[in-house]
Amino acid sequence: MAKKSKNEIPRHIAVIMDGNGRWARRRGLPRTVGHRHGAEAARRIIRLAADRGIEYITLFGFSSENWSRPKDEVKELMKLLRHYLHSETAELHKNNARLRVIGDRSAFDDDIIKLVENAEKVTQDNTGITVIMALNYGGRWDIAQAAYRVISQGKKDDVSNLEDFETAIDEHLSTAGMPDPDLLIRTSGEHRISNFLLWQCAYAEMVFLPVLWPDFDAKDLDFALGEYASRDRRFGNVRSSEA
Ligand code: IPE
Ligand code: IPE
Ligand code: MG
Repeated sequence: MAKKSKNEIPRHIAVIMDGNGRWARRRGLPRTVGHRHGAEAARRIIRLAADRGIEYITLFGFSSENWSRPKDEVKELMKLLRHYLHSETAELHKNNARLRVIGDRSAFDDDIIKLVENAEKVTQDNTGITVIMALNYGGRWDIAQAAYRVISQGKKDDVSNLEDFETAIDEHLSTAGMPDPDLLIRTSGEHRISNFLLWQCAYAEMVFLPVLWPDFDAKDLDFALGEYASRDRRFGNVRSSEA
């Protein structure tokens, strides 16, 4: 694996955008207002990431466990998702960005599925940043669906030995064809992965920030990038200075 020189920008960053509810509560506002401001912060980080030369950004928008939230909050999040897909597709396209959605989309209403398909189609040939929205996404779901597809397709080469099976799973994950995240950022002071990209983050550098997601700005991104640049990624090898 290529060694990382200092100050290198990660190719792929993954973000657990957490803290919308607390941001709102601190202001005496309903949680849904926090989600609206969170959507603004998502717009902002996409622009900033593209400016910094990041090639892929994966944003955790809705987890497979988030369905367990109060009905009204889920409804509001779906409304916001519709609104976001409507307004952002043209904006992303204008900025030469490509949108991909990962997660089990079959659980969404038909109109949302159509909006997602349309956004992916309209932006598919763009050559700028790839924005991957994780919606109804769970890391365990992703590994399980990949393994299930490999086994049920029953191609002999894929399952004849463990190494090939691992490669086959990798090629059937929802992120197939994209590089693994180099840097994982989580906001709001929580220190957990919450069933995000479990397989893909095997070697991601992790940065946990206290900032609540709606407040996330350029200085927070640059702090995380600086932290990333200072890390020595060893991938099981010895320190690069000793190699
Ligand atoms: C993240 O913010 C947004 C989603 C999970 C959809 P939260 O809604 O989890 O905010 P907190 O963690 O309750 O503050
Ligand atoms: C993770 O945040 C999911 C998203 C950011 C979409 P949660 O707020 O749902 O995670 P937990 O419940 O704190 O682990
Ligand atoms: Mg949360």
